[in-house]
Amino acid sequence: MPLSSTLTGMRVLVTGGAGFIGSQFVRRLVESGDEVSVLDKLTYAGNRANLEGVEHRFHEGDIADPAAVERAAEGVEAIVNFAAETHVDRSILGPAEFILTDVLGTQVLLDYARHHQIRHLQVSTDEVYGDIPLGADACAEDAPIRASSPYSASKAGGDLQVLAYVRTYDVDALITRGANTYGARQYPEKFLPLFITNAFEGSHLPVYGDGKQRREWLHVEDHCAGIELALRKGEAGNVYNVGGQERENMDVVRRILDLTGGSPDLVRHVADRPGHDRRYAVDSTKLRNLGWQPQHSFDAGGLEETVDWYRDNREWWEPIKSGEYKQYYETQYASRLS
Ligand code: NAD
Ligand code: DAU
Repeated sequence: MPLSSTLTGMRVLVTGGAGFIGSQFVRRLVESGDEVSVLDKLTYAGNRANLEGVEHRFHEGDIADPAAVERAAEGVEAIVNFAAETHVDRSILGPAEFILTDVLGTQVLLDYARHHQIRHLQVSTDEVYGDIPLGADACAEDAPIRASSPYSASKAGGDLQVLAYVRTYDVDALITRGANTYGARQYPEKFLPLFITNAFEGSHLPVYGDGKQRREWLHVEDHCAGIELALRKGEAGNVYNVGGQERENMDVVRRILDLTGGSPDLVRHVADRPGHDRRYAVDSTKLRNLGWQPQHSFDAGGLEETVDWYRDNREWWEPIKSGEYKQYYETQYASRLS
């Protein structure tokens, strides 16, 4: 049943609310007048500074721990699950954490939703559809699941749990599948913030393979607007794609160099990601029919505004690019760049 009867003033648990998209979603709900609790394990990707100035109740804990979920979810009317291990390259280095959080953690949250008869919205990804061949139509929500990486396989596992809980236990649960999201406060391991901050630092830009892979770019505010709409108006058992604007990686790299003033000599084509998907493309007609209308254009302002944010907020990303990050960077890139 949609939640449209309670348009605002809901009590919501946002898991993974200290991460990139989750923190923007918390900000959005609070501005709409909702009461928000956050449950976050504060992994390397979680950052309480992302929630500075946003009124919320914070619980540090693991979504795979039923006691932590019980405490954080007390009294809420819905759970929106952003908590996940999210980086494909890290999943290739070590898949175990991905299964624990993205599959087992999702099941623990679903059990809570089942026993307390509340709504569960699962924030998932277009990566579960795998490669979409060049020239093929963007895929709708009933396309087969063809996960390529341990990350996308773990997200697909979470999605299948959601659909099974709807069918078996009649849980009020639904799924959104978003495209590559960009904007402020994204951990600088992902393509855009990595390349933007490296360009500012005069470091190499490690392009995987030929750089002709294609992704759809979705502004974080448009992604959050889509998730909020699905939360309030979506139907249980349904999946809603949230697409973006499709661009080839090398075109994006050239735009980043223009916007940052970085030298083209920084670009290095390095060994490709194993199992690398060439193209993602999703059809968002179903969400548009609910009323979703993206407000940001990647080329006309969206990317530029994002580059400006990283230029103006070095105190946010410079401390991150030390410690654990340096170790990860060394493992992931040293031999590729040597
Ligand atoms: P992120 O990596 O920036 O943040 C993830 C957050 O989850 C962090 O705050 C982390 O501390 C927390 N977390 C991780 N494991 C946890 C656990 N076991 N218990 C509690 N908290 C835990 O991620 P993001 O990019 O903001 O992505 C959020 C969600 O959106 C994920 O589910 C991801 O799969 C999905 N998604 C992301 C994109 C994208 O382009 N970034 C696109 C589509 C879908
Ligand atoms: O499509 C949605 C997904 O987008 C989300 O579910 C994931 O959480 C998010 O990480 C993202 O996955 P991708 O693998 O598409 O994003 P990533 O930023 O890692 O890479 C984007 C493209 O850039 C991809 O083709 C790989 C390429 N790339 C990435 C990195 C980190 C490079 O060429 N070099 C790099 O160093």
